[in-house]
Amino acid sequence: MEMYSKNFETNAVHAGQHPDGETGALVSPLYLTSTYVWTPEKMERYLAGDKEGIFTYGRSRNPTQNMFQTKIATLEGGEAALATGSGMAAISLALLGTLHAGDHMISSGTVYGGTYALMTKIFEEMRIEVTFVSGDDKAEMEAALRPNTKIVYLEAMLNPTIRLNDIPMMLKFAKDNNLMSIVDNTFPTPYLFRPLEHGADLVVHSTTKYINGHGDHVGGIIVGGAEYIEKLRSSIYQELGPVPSPFACWLGLRGAKTLHLRMRQHCESAMTLAKWLMAHPKVVDVSYPGLENHPQHELAKSIFTGKGFGGLVSFTIDGGIPEAQKVINELHMAQYCVSLGDLDTLVQHPATMTHGKIEPDERARMGIPDGMIRISVGIENVEDIIADFEQALEKF
Ligand SMILES: Cc1ncc(COP(=O)(O)O)c(C=O)c1O
Repeated sequence: MEMYSKNFETNAVHAGQHPDGETGALVSPLYLTSTYVWTPEKMERYLAGDKEGIFTYGRSRNPTQNMFQTKIATLEGGEAALATGSGMAAISLALLGTLHAGDHMISSGTVYGGTYALMTKIFEEMRIEVTFVSGDDKAEMEAALRPNTKIVYLEAMLNPTIRLNDIPMMLKFAKDNNLMSIVDNTFPTPYLFRPLEHGADLVVHSTTKYINGHGDHVGGIIVGGAEYIEKLRSSIYQELGPVPSPFACWLGLRGAKTLHLRMRQHCESAMTLAKWLMAHPKVVDVSYPGLENHPQHELAKSIFTGKGFGGLVSFTIDGGIPEAQKVINELHMAQYCVSLGDLDTLVQHPATMTHGKIEPDERARMGIPDGMIRISVGIENVEDIIADFEQALEKF
């Protein structure tokens, strides 16, 4: 980990990046090469186990990737990081670095759809068992524990309900039972929440979202202890080959430099929009952790960094699927698509998109009504964002 400052903002700009030694270029150059030339001296050092600064082959690592990893490890307060070609690759590697056939893990029942498919379909074929829990009931976790349990997995903010698990309870449970804990910190980002400081062993991210933040990169990253990260890199990472391209790392590196500025604006506008939606007569519910009526408002206040509550707001209209689709179709500025954390305001309709394959009863049990719309609040002027929702809500 490379620490320039005790301040997040300074580390976001500087950590991991240095002017280029050869040319003095302030912004680090992009090394578009698949292989690296050996010298006798380099080979001698490499064979002696001193791999510092030695690059061998593009599937193993590239210099821009190293810089990106250092920046994110610093922001998360971790010793080391490993960047991957997508968020799903980061989650898969983080889990498969520990889990083998015959093992068992405990996961929060509300996880990203791709993660859920991995833990059910793929893990079932691999004979890895998963017990899903509500995430706020210690007795349920105790009942789920088995001699072969290895991991506790959770997301720092739940999608699309924007609720929170009892994160301190889940992390303490993992520690007390010698289980590895893994937190997907994609939604709050280290600007708002730093799971390693709360006892988590590993943090995973879809850097596709807020960390890159510009909607032009797909990537993931795992942050944690140097020993475990090196174990992942030198084994399963090498053999499965989920390496990110140098350009994806370069974009992520550039994006992360403004993470604090973007998050500040996302949080401020999301709070303003959430309050406006609360007062709208056609809106029956708003979920935003910054609102005092949010069930985990106090928890978010106690474990987050105090800089805000994120850029995601879910609201439910007084209507079902057709009405929600009508509102979405009437939006002019907010774009109708999956993904989140971009500069642009994005909306998605969970009942027909991310959670469309789930039976209506099960969706209702998960707290996802048909009239729910999830907003990833962008950094446009908030008055324009509100005006867009105002005119769309008038139309149904
Ligand atoms: C919380 C969360 N984790 C992981 C992922 C997967 O990331 P990626 O699409 O970069 O593979 C997503 C994607 O939406 C997500 O929302």
